[in-house]
Amino acid sequence: MGFYSKRIFPRVLDFVMRDPQMSKERPLVLANAEGDIFEIGFGTGLNLRHYPESVKKITTADPHPTMGKIAQRRVDASPIDVEHHVIGGEKLPFEDESFDTLVCTWTLCSIPDVEAALKQFHRVLRKDGKFLFIEHGLAHDPKVQKWQHRVNPLWKKIGDGCNLNRNHRELLQDHHFAFDELDTFNFEKGISIATYMYKGIARKA
Ligand SMILES: C[S@@+](CC[C@H](N)C(=O)[O-])C[C@H]1O[C@@H](n2cnc3c(N)ncnc32)[C@H](O)[C@@H]1O
Repeated sequence: MGFYSKRIFPRVLDFVMRDPQMSKERPLVLANAEGDIFEIGFGTGLNLRHYPESVKKITTADPHPTMGKIAQRRVDASPIDVEHHVIGGEKLPFEDESFDTLVCTWTLCSIPDVEAALKQFHRVLRKDGKFLFIEHGLAHDPKVQKWQHRVNPLWKKIGDGCNLNRNHRELLQDHHFAFDELDTFNFEKGISIATYMYKGIARKA
């Protein structure tokens, strides 16, 4: 891992991900978190303060070691017990059907082998479990899509592996998830290539 990825990017991300538009969405996505919860792509722990009060423990994963270090002060300040794993979503060490709730906020864009990860999410989610997500991705407008595809190679470098052009509706459906709710919308502020959101609740189809 290079200097930019290890030292600079996590700090930039911690700032960028505190965008008020994102902070507003976090509690809405997490409102339905219950039972045994697994949050993938824990990042710098920004979701922690938005879980419902009823949540006492979560299991988290993120392969980036520096993210975990930045997250630690939020973990220490939280009443929630966090069991963190420094691993990627592509290979999870949990038994089949271990979790009632999966949480994924702005992370599917960054997982290199997103297909392998979605297979794992499907495997570790209980039969009647919920997959709570919000992701930025492929826009509805073809003109914006064109720019997303064009800019993606450069964006991936600056964003440490983040993709602009993933279609999360198709990705989840292709990996045997069905939607209880799916809302797509644009954030009001920001550049159009990065502000088209997919937010919802999916279950095993
Ligand atoms: C844009 S950040 C989002 C962080 C956090 N979920 C949030 O909402 O603030 C994307 C996160 O995905 C993580 N990530 C990258 N590759 C991953 C992988 N293979 N599996 C799981 N997470 C990964 C990154 O380390 C980073 O923390």
